[in-house]
Amino acid sequence: MPDHEHIRISVEVNLFFQRIMKEHLFFLQTNLQPAAHKYIEKANTLKKRFEQLLNETLPCARGVVSESAIQSNEFVTPYTLKAEDVNSRLTGASIDTGITKREQTLTCSSPHYDNQCLSASVDNLNHNSLHLLQETISFQKYLLSQSSNCNIFISLYPQMLDHDTREAEHYLGILKGLLSDRPPKETLCDELNFWNTIMAEHAEFIDGMLDPTEADLKKTAEATAKKFEKLVNECIYTAEEQILQTSLYATEEIRSFKTKATEGLLACRIKSIIPPLLADHVLREANHYLRLMKMNECCGLR
Ligand SMILES: [Fe+2]
Ligand SMILES: [Fe+2]
Repeated sequence: MPDHEHIRISVEVNLFFQRIMKEHLFFLQTNLQPAAHKYIEKANTLKKRFEQLLNETLPCARGVVSESAIQSNEFVTPYTLKAEDVNSRLTGASIDTGITKREQTLTCSSPHYDNQCLSASVDNLNHNSLHLLQETISFQKYLLSQSSNCNIFISLYPQMLDHDTREAEHYLGILKGLLSDRPPKETLCDELNFWNTIMAEHAEFIDGMLDPTEADLKKTAEATAKKFEKLVNECIYTAEEQILQTSLYATEEIRSFKTKATEGLLACRIKSIIPPLLADHVLREANHYLRLMKMNECCGLR
């Protein structure tokens, strides 16, 4: 991979996933119970270390990230800052909103291009992310086992803990590929199935976290989950391109559903136990997946 491509992809991958990881940790921190204060503290520390890494990634981003990545709203959406403010205020847990404010002004080209981010510093960034990620994955797996054995109580579905860990492992595979210059060996179906499963589970989580009186929204969420499950079941080598197209349409639909949900939650119009930041988080994951499908490029979809 040419140097500038290596730098661009590294920065884009880290910018997207470092935020995703720190938000998983924020959700852990704010859904554990006071009796588990040791784990709350650990989640907070790991979250802050990802924020520190994001602060190191950002100076590399200006003039390096592609226009399509910025336009996709996978780094931040128009709702991210407000959702962070609301969730931080309502939980008392900290969020570095300065990162979001700087990401909102991110541009792909600068008339005075002076980015000092070289291949070596990007490799350093990939290394540091990889180490922190490995520590985070162990922590998440440990919490899932503690929760499954009823040693702790956490108000997140066990499947969501597993889901977040799979996203972390996916990121780990990409980082390893970037560090060895060998992208993960996956078929298009592997990649589509990974993201379509993620989308199906988002719909299930939304369904399960909506108030029982929100019948229409629950119905849409349930139908959406079924649509993505069907895509996973039908993906075979000979039908990959067809599944890619259908996945694209389905993801555009779930994106608009998530957008409406985020807006409704922020306006306090929807009854649920969904934190607005979680709605915005899953919206960004759909935005990311859509961009990968449109580009069908390396380190995402092959
Ligand atoms: Fe996530
Ligand atoms: Fe997710």
